[in-house]
Amino acid sequence: RYVLGVMNKVAEKPDMPIPEMFIPPELELATIQSHHETAPIPIFDLKTLLSAPNTQLHHLYDACKEWGIFQVGNHGVRGEVLENLKVEMEKFFNLPKEEKSKYQVQAGDFQGYGNVIRCKEDEKVDWGERFFMVINPRERRKADLFEKLPESLRDTLEAYFKELRKIGMGLLRILGEGVGMEIEEVDEIFENGMHTTRMTYYPPCPNPEVVLGLTPHSDSTGITILHQVNGIEGLQIKKQGLWLPVSFHPNAFLVLLGDIFEIVSNGVYNSMEHRVVVNKEEGRLSIAMFMNPKYEAEVGPSKSLISAENPPLFRRMIMEDFVKDYFSRNLNGKSHLENMR
Ligand code: SIN
Ligand code: FE2
Repeated sequence: RYVLGVMNKVAEKPDMPIPEMFIPPELELATIQSHHETAPIPIFDLKTLLSAPNTQLHHLYDACKEWGIFQVGNHGVRGEVLENLKVEMEKFFNLPKEEKSKYQVQAGDFQGYGNVIRCKEDEKVDWGERFFMVINPRERRKADLFEKLPESLRDTLEAYFKELRKIGMGLLRILGEGVGMEIEEVDEIFENGMHTTRMTYYPPCPNPEVVLGLTPHSDSTGITILHQVNGIEGLQIKKQGLWLPVSFHPNAFLVLLGDIFEIVSNGVYNSMEHRVVVNKEEGRLSIAMFMNPKYEAEVGPSKSLISAENPPLFRRMIMEDFVKDYFSRNLNGKSHLENMR
């Protein structure tokens, strides 16, 4: 069920009705209407946060409890890397579809290029082209996928991953500290973890009111670091039943707290449900870096947070099985996390 090229065809013929497969069921459509006010997402100075966390730890704790999402400015990733990323991603998604289909996700797999995240027959197709792959550990990368990408894109991605990996580990430690975990425990779970990435191009849509760029979900990750590559917005979060547009600072990354950190924190932190809407005029590019425990790690509430008064709220599971379970399900709100209770 890969429909590469369909979105482009529709975009070229604005009078053509949007094909059925892109239109979510009535119920979901009724809620596509979003709130007019943007969400006031807390912002942190990453350098200060990592070098002198004590001053901001309680703010971070509050942000993760209340929002499950925050921004980090002053992140130190060189402007040149981010500029190259924009140029290279634009080039990639502009390749002719025959060229892009060389990287197409194969049945039963999840790495590569395509429209769908899962391959269930009944799942509606989101209005977006995606490229998903494992970054770390290297032996889990799909052979011949990354290697076949244009060299300039590969070099840029490697430079970006290297910078984000440092930031990610720093953030995971601080977030652990925020709930009272020892650094050693955080490292044991997340050091040399499973890192994956997804690049997405959301083409403009002649009728954006009836489609979604990305179905509502919470990330199944430890944390996700999201960069809005060409500055075009579209992300929304669900807060008290309302979909709030997320506006983030052009020089900041967005950090989303994922299901795994909600589990590890025994429900103290909140993995925020989010989705992406598209627009008529401009295509949107984003890149998400997903930071997870290592495959062998046991995912479960941190032992240091569990007591007679604080019983575990989630089951324990080996990361490898958690991933398999995730990819065997349709994307649907926070259902994957609920299944861990
Ligand atoms: C995601 O939810 O992983 C991606 C969101 C985005 O493209 O902004
Ligand atoms: Fe997400």
